Amino acid sequence: MTTSVLSDLKIRFSKAIAAAFGAEYTSHDPAVAPSKDAKFGDYQCNAALGLTKKLKQKPQDVAAQIIANLQVDDMFEAPTIAGAGFINLKLKLSYLESQLAKMQKSDRLAIAKVEKPDRVIVDFSSPNIAKEMHVGHLRSTIIGDSIARILEFQGHEVLRLNHVGDWGTQFGMLITYLREVYPDALTKADAIAIGDLVELYRAAKKRFDEDAEFKEISRAAVVELQAGGSEAKLAWQLLCEQSRREFQKIYDTLNIQLEERGESFYNQFLSDVVTDLRKTGLLQEDQGALCVFLEGFSNKDGQPLPLIVQKTDGGYNYATTDLAALRYRIREDRATRIIYVTDIGQSGHFAQVFQVAKRANWIPETVQTTHVPFGLVMGDDGKKFKTRSGDTIALKSLLEEAVTRARADIETRNPEASDEFKQDVAEAVGLGAVKYADLSQNRTSNYIFSFDKMLALQGNTAPYMLYAYVRVQGIGRKGEIDFASLDADAIKLTQEPEIVLAKHLLQFAEAIDAVSEELFPNRLCQYLFELSQKFNQFFEQCPVLQAEESERISRLSLCDITAKTLKLGLNLLGIRVLERM
Ligand code: ARG
Repeated sequence: MTTSVLSDLKIRFSKAIAAAFGAEYTSHDPAVAPSKDAKFGDYQCNAALGLTKKLKQKPQDVAAQIIANLQVDDMFEAPTIAGAGFINLKLKLSYLESQLAKMQKSDRLAIAKVEKPDRVIVDFSSPNIAKEMHVGHLRSTIIGDSIARILEFQGHEVLRLNHVGDWGTQFGMLITYLREVYPDALTKADAIAIGDLVELYRAAKKRFDEDAEFKEISRAAVVELQAGGSEAKLAWQLLCEQSRREFQKIYDTLNIQLEERGESFYNQFLSDVVTDLRKTGLLQEDQGALCVFLEGFSNKDGQPLPLIVQKTDGGYNYATTDLAALRYRIREDRATRIIYVTDIGQSGHFAQVFQVAKRANWIPETVQTTHVPFGLVMGDDGKKFKTRSGDTIALKSLLEEAVTRARADIETRNPEASDEFKQDVAEAVGLGAVKYADLSQNRTSNYIFSFDKMLALQGNTAPYMLYAYVRVQGIGRKGEIDFASLDADAIKLTQEPEIVLAKHLLQFAEAIDAVSEELFPNRLCQYLFELSQKFNQFFEQCPVLQAEESERISRLSLCDITAKTLKLGLNLLGIRVLERM
């Protein structure tokens, strides 16, 4: 098993720099990167320039000394120095061939698991009870799942947590309203359908915003619930049960694994947050509420902004819960990396929660907390995604429409196929397209939801990628090839398109590393898109089944490794491939 060429090279350059200039340079940034332009080779080290000042030597001389201490001849041709001391490296074909052979023989493409696994929590999806899951939650679900898959693949221990909004003001509101208009719903299971529940919730919210007395009673109901009042609790359980079943349908459709640990789970720890904050001396009273004044956040008048942890009426809020959850995750779950996937609108909330937890010394140095924000989903018209009537679009119907459209497409392309086959293809393509469309965008920007674009056969889309995979399987069927029995050691790279494809295949590990570090799944999409393109170029220019025997075997292996990479890569995005479509 190997790690990525890039991470291996960084280590080798670090060693060379330390060997050349002394141990104090051990942690000097080796500044290694893939070359931007193939004419300079495959990788570059730009460390020399940064060292010239300290060493009082010319960059070219610094580079020469690094090279003199560098051991890379198993992987690269002799390094060359260009311009102001840039060290250029070109992969040896023999190395490429041997790495490809390893990939071909391995069921994880020769990508090693990490030596020291982290305990990671990915907090994602996290819809709210009694409300419908909306496209924002869909984004969180798709992005969070992909991040979890990638970290799991690397060998990390991942806890996938659904921080369901099952606590707080909305319940007080809803319970109070139901007591008035539909008390049965609070005592009998399934007395109302979830759709109606959403309607009732809306009505309750309206009352809450307009009617001061109603607001008061609702607030009291929340406090009652948080204090463990039994009537409110039963009602609450019924509401949760119902929503949970609706959410589960979406998770089943999308093949998402999640462990529900909603806000209510932390109820018993909320008062400790306040007590312990008081001990740190950070807690202050502001107009009856307990809060911590934040550094670097101010209101319109330039006054420091408070983070309220206990309201005047004694109730706790979203932030208190997140503080309790953070402590629990560190202390009880022993997480070393905690990742939160939500819309960009919550960036402030997380920055504030992290700040307070840090200042309270609740986050040890060894623990990394990261908010992974994403932008809005927009309609074709560039406005916030809504139905014609202005309602937010229900996720279920959205996913159904993707499948229906994919089904219509296969009906025209392959009307003779069996119903079962068509449905299977439609589901893989339709749901794959929705996921891929989301993941292939830089998640921080808003993205336009367009069925036409995401289902197109050309471009950076799921169907395009799925076709590339199917194409290889087609070659296998046509030539009656058993890919598993190909001699991987027979790979010989002679033509330019083969070499270009081979180098790209070898960068799969780098793409995965990059996503796991920076948490941008679009990096993996881009990698796979380029892979499909490079494969198509290779396939156009290099005959495979028609080639003479040794070339044929070598090229079939390239096809097979490409297919395996596409399959694994798409799988890490939560997308399943098809053998035919
Ligand atoms: N329920 C929240 C919402 O719908 C998202 C929760 C995200 N996770 C967290 N730990 N705050 O906006």
